[in-house]
Amino acid sequence: MKEMEVCREAVVAGSEIVAGYFRDGVEMRSKEPYNLVSDADIDAEKRIVEVIHHSFPDHSVLGEEVHAGARTDVEHLWIIDPVDGTNNFAHRVPHFAVSLAYYRDGEPMCGVVANPVRDDWYEAIKGQGAFHNGTRVRVGEETGLDQVLVGVGFYYDRGKIMEATLAAIGELFGRNIHGIRRMGTASLDLCQVGMGMFGLFFEYQLQPWDFGAGCLFVEEAGGRVTTCSDGNLPLKKTSLLASNGLVHDAALEIVGRYLPPECA
Ligand code: IPD
Ligand code: CA
Ligand code: CA
Repeated sequence: MKEMEVCREAVVAGSEIVAGYFRDGVEMRSKEPYNLVSDADIDAEKRIVEVIHHSFPDHSVLGEEVHAGARTDVEHLWIIDPVDGTNNFAHRVPHFAVSLAYYRDGEPMCGVVANPVRDDWYEAIKGQGAFHNGTRVRVGEETGLDQVLVGVGFYYDRGKIMEATLAAIGELFGRNIHGIRRMGTASLDLCQVGMGMFGLFFEYQLQPWDFGAGCLFVEEAGGRVTTCSDGNLPLKKTSLLASNGLVHDAALEIVGRYLPPECA
């Protein structure tokens, strides 16, 4: 599939830029409180777009930093998060990713999530599976909440969405989950569901560039991805629940109950 080849090539190019800035250091700026950006994000996004447009000059691009306002109801759409996990990047935690997905008519066709400093590659192709560093992977087989490790994320909201997230976490603990992890990189959190590490992951507000590639990885690994109110994921800001499928309904019952109305 030509798009997958280009996807890989673009992520390699973006990863080189991001890894270089991580190695050499770069000044971080605030877009808004707690929400950081640097030349790493901007330069990587521009380079990724260059690679895509070299092969597909007519394709549309949605990217967090330079192409955030693009329409998503188009035939060919590439979705880019040049640095997912910017806070980790800024604080020298080597857990962040370049995420790129190709969508046709609103459906994910292929995607790559790569941690550029750990040389960790997650790839998914519609109908062909999910692969970690070339090896096919599958979601876990836990059937109950009392058997899973749970991933969670917080958007940059420190008000109602944060409170609702904490309340849902409290209830999940009440169901004897094995633990909660807030790793700080939604694309990699999704890959960890696909790898069978997390039985589920949820976040009340995510953007398409956070989940564009990761949601295909989960589905191709045999898992399930919906909004926290059991809807299909829209290509706009949304809540998200990803799981191994087997614990999905039990998780929905909890995360759906605390879902703030503004995230529904
Ligand atoms: C963020 C990360 C984080 C998630 C936030 C995202 P960014 O993306 O994925 O894990 O909790 O909601 O905005 O800003 O680091 O690209
Ligand atoms: Ca992100
Ligand atoms: Ca980002």
